[in-house]
Amino acid sequence: MRFTSLLPLWALCGSVLAQLPAQNESKIIYQLSADGEFAFQLERILSLANGAGTNTAEVLRAASQITPGDFDSYYTEWNYLATKVHSMATNINATRSPSSARSAYFRASRYYAAAGFFLHGNWSDPRIPALWNKSLSDFDKGATLLPIPAERVNIIASNFTIPAIFYKASACNDKRPTLVAFSGYDGNQEDLYFSLGIYVLERGWNFLSFEGPGQPTVRIYQNKGFIPNWWDVVSPVVDYLETRDDVDTKRMALEGQSFGGLLVALAATHEHRFAAVLAIDGMYSLVESFRAELPSQLIAIYDASNKTKFDTMVSAAAANTTSPSSYRWSVDQGLWSFYTHSPYDWFTQLGNFNLTKDMAAQITTPVFVGEGQDDSNLYGQGRVVAQWLGNKSYYHLFTNDVGAGEHCQLGAEALLAQVSLDWVAEIFDTVESSKPM
Ligand SMILES: *[C@@H]1O[C@H](CO)[C@@H](O)[C@H](O)[C@H]1NC(C)=O
Ligand SMILES: *[C@@H]1O[C@H](CO)[C@@H](O)[C@H](O)[C@H]1NC(C)=O
Ligand SMILES: *[C@@H]1O[C@H](CO)[C@@H](O)[C@H](O)[C@H]1NC(C)=O
Ligand SMILES: *[C@@H]1O[C@H](CO)[C@@H](O)[C@H](O)[C@H]1NC(C)=O
Ligand SMILES: *[C@@H]1O[C@H](CO)[C@@H](O)[C@H](O)[C@H]1NC(C)=O
Ligand SMILES: *[C@@H]1O[C@H](CO)[C@@H](O)[C@H](O)[C@H]1NC(C)=O
Ligand SMILES: *[C@@H]1O[C@H](CO)[C@@H](O)[C@H](O)[C@H]1NC(C)=O
Ligand SMILES: *[C@@H]1O[C@H](CO)[C@@H](O)[C@H](O)[C@H]1NC(C)=O
Ligand SMILES: *[C@@H]1O[C@H](CO)[C@@H](O)[C@H](O)[C@H]1NC(C)=O
Repeated sequence: MRFTSLLPLWALCGSVLAQLPAQNESKIIYQLSADGEFAFQLERILSLANGAGTNTAEVLRAASQITPGDFDSYYTEWNYLATKVHSMATNINATRSPSSARSAYFRASRYYAAAGFFLHGNWSDPRIPALWNKSLSDFDKGATLLPIPAERVNIIASNFTIPAIFYKASACNDKRPTLVAFSGYDGNQEDLYFSLGIYVLERGWNFLSFEGPGQPTVRIYQNKGFIPNWWDVVSPVVDYLETRDDVDTKRMALEGQSFGGLLVALAATHEHRFAAVLAIDGMYSLVESFRAELPSQLIAIYDASNKTKFDTMVSAAAANTTSPSSYRWSVDQGLWSFYTHSPYDWFTQLGNFNLTKDMAAQITTPVFVGEGQDDSNLYGQGRVVAQWLGNKSYYHLFTNDVGAGEHCQLGAEALLAQVSLDWVAEIFDTVESSKPM
């Protein structure tokens, strides 16, 4: 998620930002599209190559063919590549060459997921479930070809089911530290294997990813939008981990990425069984950054509670292909993931996802708070969250000079893993294991 600025962020939270070192406004990363939102999404797909989820030439070739800002072109090129790589995968003898088959299925799965990314403006577009089915199916084919096949698990929660994937660190049943992770506003759990899971497993820890309401697998198959009581998603996952004999339940960590950096903090106000929590990056309000992006006249209409007018204006601008694609996509994705056709309702729901200083005081777990120097929407929020948490927090600013300044340190996964997982490892060292002595 990233929006090219419609209005400067400075306007809204100058008081917070005044305390921070000046943000470097230059584009720190080579742009793969003239369209800012496309460039960011392409960077995201390219970054998965670091964990072998994609390949650079495949991504750069598709990027070269996509018409900037044209949602149909984005679909067409990724679907073309996905179909090609899928067909290569099916032609590999997986008995003879399991690692090649695994790689091709994994890459095809990422390209099918990419193909659907800008389609959420029309909920009844049949390509949405069709692409998602293909993406999950190819991911699962790849995951069964891992040295230790990953396990899909469906965890029952209050009135929804949590799709999770468990990756065992060891073929033995010994109890291992376990890192649990989820994504944000528009991410999916399969990406997390490539961007984070591989680093966790290399440390000898188990990895579990999941999605909650609002996130693609739950949204597509269960029609559930985001809920602010994110602990109702996390706690059933912890209950599940407690039933496994290969999890050291004293050494569990929870990480949320992007909007998940806010959800993870909300969850941690109620769920205290983790030894460590990671907010990648730290965040206290998403609606605040959206408010900063929208024209002030529009915000005035929202604040005057004129639902009809707000809905009409926001929807018209989102449907207009001359509007910036970051805006069109943000609205499309917001309505879809919050399961509402009313922009006013979406905006109101977003306002229920706020972390406050009082809520931060209810968090008892140590929290790693990351921040990206070039995070155009959220820069400044991480430091505020860290201040509220006081000595429960560990704040780390990821900088532009080494290419780590992006939202969620996109593309700098190795550095992110080193810094954040070293912090987790230090905490795990201090807690008593649940292993029998
Ligand atoms: C901003 O970043 C660019 C590229 O990394 C660098 O060349 C430039 O010196 C930086 N400017 C400031 C003011 O830090
Ligand atoms: C696939 O590879 C295995 C192991 O080398 C071999 O036994 C089998 O005949 C191959 N299958 C096909 C359809 O070529
Ligand atoms: C949405 O997609 C459906 C199915 O393809 C189509 O019938 C409908 O016209 C589309 N709606 C809009 C507003 O484009
Ligand atoms: C996708 O898969 C679900 C079940 O997993 C099935 O019900 C649905 O019909 C499939 N949709 C498409 C478009 O293939
Ligand atoms: C069940 O889900 C709906 C929306 O999907 C929500 O409004 C409701 O509060 C949920 N009920 C419970 C008990 O969680
Ligand atoms: C909302 O805006 C519409 C269109 O400008 C206007 O006709 C209506 O009176 C407004 N309603 C309220 C309650 O302000
Ligand atoms: C789309 O927006 C442009 C620029 O604001 C405007 O000129 C045009 O009339 C709009 N198109 C529609 C169909 O509203
Ligand atoms: C959440 O924060 C935003 C921005 O600071 C504010 O506009 C909104 O009213 C807050 N929501 C609640 C429920 O307090
Ligand atoms: C952390 O801060 C709290 C409250 O500000 C204080 O009571 C506590 O002693 C501090 N703990 C450490 C280890 O510094």
